[in-house]
Amino acid sequence: MVRLSLAACLFAGLSSAVQFDTVEKKKSSSRLPGAYIVEFEDGKSTSGFNKEVAGQATTRLEFDYKLFKGVSIQFNDLEKADDLAANIAALPAVKNMWQVKVYSIPDPQIEWVGTPGVDHAISRKKRAINETEADTFSPHVMTQVNKLRAKGITGKGVKVAVIDTGIDYKHPALGGCFGPDCLVSFGTDLVGDDYDGYNTVYPDDDPMDCQGHGSHVAGIIAAQENSMGFTGVAPDVSLGAYRVFGCDGEAGNDVLIAAFNQAYEDGADIITASIGGASGWSEEPWSVAVSRIVEQGVPCTVSAGNSGDVGMFYASTAANGKKVMAIASYDNSQYVALLNTSHYTVNDSSTKIEFGSTAGSPAAWGGVTLPLWAPNYDTTVVNGGCDAYPDDTPDLSGYIVLVRRGTCTFVQKAQNAAAAGAKYIMLYNNAGGTSAIDVSTVTGILAAGMVTADLGAQFISLLKEGSTVTLEMSDGSDGKVTLTQSRNGVTGGSVSTFSSWGPTWEMDVKPQFGAPGGSILSTYPTKKGSYAVLSGTSMSCPAVAGIIALISEVRGTLDPTLIENLLSANANPQLFNDGSKFYDSLAPVPQQGGGFIQAYDAAYATVLLSHSSLSFNDTDNFVSVLNFTIENTGSEDIEIDISHIPTTTVYTLIEDSIYPDSFPNEFTDGAASLEFSESKVSVGAGDSVTIEVIPTPPEGLASERLPLWSGYIAINGSDGTSLSLPYQGLAGSLHDAQVLASDDTWISKSTDESLAAVPANTSFTLPAAGTNDSSATLPALVWYLALGSAELRAEVIPVSLSAPNATSKSIGEPANFPMLWNAMGSNSLAWAGKLVNGSFAPAGQYKISYRALRIFGDASESSDWDKSESPVFSIKYAE
Ligand SMILES: *[C@@H]1O[C@H](CO)[C@@H](O)[C@H](O)[C@H]1NC(C)=O
Ligand SMILES: *[C@@H]1O[C@H](CO)[C@@H](O)[C@H](O)[C@H]1NC(C)=O
Ligand SMILES: *[C@@H]1O[C@H](CO)[C@@H](O)[C@H](O)[C@H]1NC(C)=O
Ligand SMILES: *[C@@H]1O[C@H](CO)[C@@H](O)[C@H](O)[C@H]1NC(C)=O
Ligand SMILES: *[C@@H]1O[C@H](CO)[C@@H](O)[C@H](O)[C@H]1NC(C)=O
Ligand SMILES: *[C@@H]1O[C@H](CO)[C@@H](O)[C@H](O)[C@H]1NC(C)=O
Ligand SMILES: *[C@@H]1O[C@H](CO)[C@@H](O)[C@H](O)[C@H]1NC(C)=O
Ligand SMILES: *[C@@H]1O[C@H](CO)[C@@H](O)[C@H](O)[C@H]1NC(C)=O
Ligand SMILES: *[C@@H]1O[C@H](CO)[C@@H](O)[C@H](O)[C@H]1NC(C)=O
Ligand SMILES: *[C@@H]1O[C@H](CO)[C@@H](O)[C@H](O)[C@H]1NC(C)=O
Repeated sequence: MVRLSLAACLFAGLSSAVQFDTVEKKKSSSRLPGAYIVEFEDGKSTSGFNKEVAGQATTRLEFDYKLFKGVSIQFNDLEKADDLAANIAALPAVKNMWQVKVYSIPDPQIEWVGTPGVDHAISRKKRAINETEADTFSPHVMTQVNKLRAKGITGKGVKVAVIDTGIDYKHPALGGCFGPDCLVSFGTDLVGDDYDGYNTVYPDDDPMDCQGHGSHVAGIIAAQENSMGFTGVAPDVSLGAYRVFGCDGEAGNDVLIAAFNQAYEDGADIITASIGGASGWSEEPWSVAVSRIVEQGVPCTVSAGNSGDVGMFYASTAANGKKVMAIASYDNSQYVALLNTSHYTVNDSSTKIEFGSTAGSPAAWGGVTLPLWAPNYDTTVVNGGCDAYPDDTPDLSGYIVLVRRGTCTFVQKAQNAAAAGAKYIMLYNNAGGTSAIDVSTVTGILAAGMVTADLGAQFISLLKEGSTVTLEMSDGSDGKVTLTQSRNGVTGGSVSTFSSWGPTWEMDVKPQFGAPGGSILSTYPTKKGSYAVLSGTSMSCPAVAGIIALISEVRGTLDPTLIENLLSANANPQLFNDGSKFYDSLAPVPQQGGGFIQAYDAAYATVLLSHSSLSFNDTDNFVSVLNFTIENTGSEDIEIDISHIPTTTVYTLIEDSIYPDSFPNEFTDGAASLEFSESKVSVGAGDSVTIEVIPTPPEGLASERLPLWSGYIAINGSDGTSLSLPYQGLAGSLHDAQVLASDDTWISKSTDESLAAVPANTSFTLPAAGTNDSSATLPALVWYLALGSAELRAEVIPVSLSAPNATSKSIGEPANFPMLWNAMGSNSLAWAGKLVNGSFAPAGQYKISYRALRIFGDASESSDWDKSESPVFSIKYAE
């Protein structure tokens, strides 16, 4: 079976561009022991609550917000916490009670970062974008932001709150100050530098960023003109910095709930967060809190997550919330790299031509000025420089050797050049971009580097015609950088393979749509180098927040439903790409929602749709007809054709298995057909028509594999209007799918990160009951959920040595259970022997009996729970 670990966190992640091969490290979600979020019933006295917790708990945060009243508390005595929590949850004043969960700090894939203390500048003649110069920044061109900016639309006065690591507001491109007349004009620090997700928060007024992520996100929205030649999507917005992370570590969902509510009450027009954790359930407390804010008229964008490799149904919190816009990532049309600037000359010309290269190891390039020499002039050679150079090769000590990448190792190429006396070697790429090479083991080589395939070809053609090409190398210490962009013909414009897939376990469409998130240049804290190129849905999400600001300036409204509908209807669905090639069919709706957003079309659309997507649910809950309305707000009558374009249908599960397939999921040919109440309508100026959509799900598919069908309804108007409405349904029953296999729970050691099973009957010596020896190896109770489960229960069952099969009675749940709103995959709990009621299980032999509620299951029906028993283990306590 396929085992995958539970992804629970990061939101700035990876690029799927071929030159980056980092693998995302998934971390388990964690709950903060003994900490709870308590929401009060509005208007009910909390004196009973205060009495109950008096002396038992400290208050972490108070939620005195219009949309969320309550507290988060930390019980002093962890042994009694869950017991007390159960009493509190039963109080009449308590509306909801949730465990505090902790979300990991966004961990971006850093493609390039500046050098602290160096003034970086793009050393091209044409650089800063100013009001009279066209915006040519590729993420802006791809999303039509350039067309809005050309009309002078800059998001003037719109307040955008960024929930993140803070913002380096002292950065010149981020306004240089914090306060009413500054770019970063509002916000606060909810946590303090030392907060790590587990300790106490020390709020203060200063949301300075000591991490980096938030400053990058802020620049994507609103960077001012700068030496690197780009601006944010909406440079005239007013930014709010709500800092929820310390300099290191994680953030609790109580802090995230407080930050969203504080931003809302401070009058934010748009709230964005590039943070999250895999789950698939819109009922998580943070998601619920964000949905409430959207219902009050504030659009909220949250990054969809970077777990695309996991497969379907991996929507992340809080992007999975109802009405929350979950933002997918598309790959940039260009490979973007900031390379140190050097120069070359041809023959005796005094003209120095600038170029960029990536330094290798070693990199003693400073002051090196030497002509190029190449072992061959063939720019298609696959094994350039792999063979020993012929005997008549000149002494290469006075040259930089130019070799094409491919076949043998860089070290082999460097050794062959060094054997002919070379001290310097420059590779040219055989793929997109450039990468750092390491030939430090080769004796005699003082510096190595790489240039792009295009530049390499240019050098070779000059050498071929007999020119002398002299490189005047820089070691990069002058801070001059060259923006190299090479067309990404492999994945450019497709959904980034790292972008997480929906839908939610309850068949809500996720993500909503996407924007470029791979290889994005933006601001970075000045102390960390001022600028950086990062990849992840963390980068696509703020772009959409900025675009919403632009649209609101054009349309004079921030109505979240209208904006979501406009963005979805005007987005362009893209062809599926598995990371290496494009397919003939559109990428499924659970991967790209409405598609790649088009800001200008959305801002000026006159034909509006009433929905951003249609979900026909699964077979048990099949919706046989859904309506949508087309409204013509223009001044002309239009004729509209309605048709549909199916995407490929995808199987959720592996064949003959209860386990989900991972990316790329298996495709199948069947597609739903849709019937419309009318397929040609005329809609008069100012009129609306309602269209009924009647789907016939595909037949003959393996329904037990949960095939998800999807597609786009095309709405084509005689005025040139071309809108699309994504739809989806599941040709199988989610309720009938097993969420937990009977043998998918086991015992491991708390010290074993791989969660490997220990042999049956393993004996653990636990710290004496009530002590907390953190060095002890505890039994790790491990479960592996095939699919998500809203509720996981566990019972501790004593096992008699003499009658191992005799059914004994549970002595209670292990402390920390139940586990709510579980994602699929493995998770574990280090167990010190404590039960939910606060007592410790006596020394003895036990097994753990689990049950997991099926999707759409009825908790009161025994048959709606999948059951599994762990192997036997035994515990005793240290003296
Ligand atoms: C803006 O760019 C244009 C075109 O490159 C240039 O002519 C103009 O001087 C620039 N304006 C400012 C204020 O830099
Ligand atoms: C450089 O000089 C060589 C040899 O004289 C000549 O063949 C070549 O065309 C020259 N290159 C350029 C770009 O003028
Ligand atoms: C540019 O130069 C700096 C400083 O020497 C170096 O640290 C960095 O790795 C270089 N960057 C590239 C892309 O080679
Ligand atoms: C699917 O049906 C279930 C059960 O009625 C419901 O809870 C869920 O919200 C539905 N999903 C959608 C997207 O309508
Ligand atoms: C769809 O609209 C029609 C009227 O155009 C109405 O009769 C019908 O009840 C609606 N159906 C749904 C599912 O809302
Ligand atoms: C509607 O427009 C889409 C996209 O341009 C096109 O693929 C489709 O064929 C058009 N449908 C009709 C019925 O014209
Ligand atoms: C662990 O023990 C230390 C003293 O040994 C105590 O200060 C601390 O509060 C205990 N922690 C927990 C979580 O019980
Ligand atoms: C575990 O211990 C029991 C009782 O001693 C024994 O019957 C059983 O065979 C043991 N199982 C294993 C796998 O060693
Ligand atoms: C106990 O149950 C196991 C698995 O169900 C079975 O293989 C074994 O024979 C049973 N042992 C006894 C003593 O009944
Ligand atoms: C907790 O449950 C165990 C087993 O049912 C019982 O022996 C113990 O007395 C209970 N402890 C408390 C504090 O209720």
